[in-house]
Amino acid sequence: MAEDFHEKPYDPGTLTKLRIFELYAQEWIPVFVAPLAPKFGRVEIFDFFSGPGKDAAGVLGSPLRILSQLRSYHQKGLAGWNKVSITVHLFDENRGKIEKLRNILQTEDWSIPGVTIDCKPMAFKDALLTHQGVLMDRGAAKLLIIDQYGVDEVTDDVFKQLICFQTSDFIFFLSSSTLYRFRDHPAIKQKIEKPDDSYDVHRAAVDYYRKLIEAGAEFFLGRFSIRKRSNIYGLIFGSRHPLGIHKFLQVAWANDEIAGEANFDIERENIRPGEGLLNFDVMRPNKLREFEEELSAAISAGSINTEADVLRFCIEAGMTSRHSAPVLKELKQKGVISLDFQVPDIKRLKAPRAVRLIQ
Ligand SMILES: C[S@@+](CC[C@H](N)C(=O)[O-])C[C@H]1O[C@@H](n2cnc3c(N)ncnc32)[C@H](O)[C@@H]1O
Repeated sequence: MAEDFHEKPYDPGTLTKLRIFELYAQEWIPVFVAPLAPKFGRVEIFDFFSGPGKDAAGVLGSPLRILSQLRSYHQKGLAGWNKVSITVHLFDENRGKIEKLRNILQTEDWSIPGVTIDCKPMAFKDALLTHQGVLMDRGAAKLLIIDQYGVDEVTDDVFKQLICFQTSDFIFFLSSSTLYRFRDHPAIKQKIEKPDDSYDVHRAAVDYYRKLIEAGAEFFLGRFSIRKRSNIYGLIFGSRHPLGIHKFLQVAWANDEIAGEANFDIERENIRPGEGLLNFDVMRPNKLREFEEELSAAISAGSINTEADVLRFCIEAGMTSRHSAPVLKELKQKGVISLDFQVPDIKRLKAPRAVRLIQ
């Protein structure tokens, strides 16, 4: 029988992913709890694939990282803390793992005043069904962490549910094998220029999900790639609020270690021939350079006309607004465009400044 994920130490790629979950929780919580008059009376954080809380070496997993952030905010004191009811739902279909997690929660005293912990064995699909009420409730702010592995639980139907949930931000994990299933999906196969290029495959996966969103609906998807030895894994973020997504991307890119993982400048000498599923000979070495070329081409082709268009392009490519600045500067210097800003401002999405193509 294959060794269980939690019976060994987390590998570096998993640690990167967990760090991203934690950093996002760290940014997300105060948005809803810091104001003196919080906008939402309830904050509900769901970790649908919680695991037992720690790896074999005792390193904290996603549920304890979420609780650590809440504990630290409680200790610091956020203005709205006592005005919001906070619930953390920790679910995993494996009873043994939930039992271990419960033990940790009791023996190490993870109780935090003002925070209710709802820890039970539950399969993802059942959890979505059981919590439809809160997930559709506009009065509750929600963060959904979907750390699936192996079988892909975010089917088209599940994705369509996720985007219908009200006032919810979600992050889900795509394994290499899931990304590779996308590569072979008939609906997107012909759209992937280089099928062995994980960057293209991840982008095609996001495009695929984007097509499941009803035309005209305002919903933002972002992506972030993580290199785990020779495989590329993907995170996909979803929110109705561009600010939510942009914050996430800033968090991810702000950390050198994570950016180093994510832009996967492949150190080819560290990769043994035949390791992993990917063909590194055709893998693009630099996500950033690729992004810059694509943005430049889109602007030169006239398909980007405003600051908001640039912002959307950045978000959809998993980049922050800051990443577009060198391209804008260069095109301005070359006389290709005129514009009166240097870095697009996410707060100006509704009143964007023009990017004019000079004919
Ligand atoms: C990648 S691990 C999650 C790791 C966890 N987030 C951590 O920080 O350690 C995936 C977990 O999902 C659980 N799982 C697998 N299929 C599931 C399902 N359909 N519903 C809920 N949990 C599931 C497994 O038992 C496993 O603990």
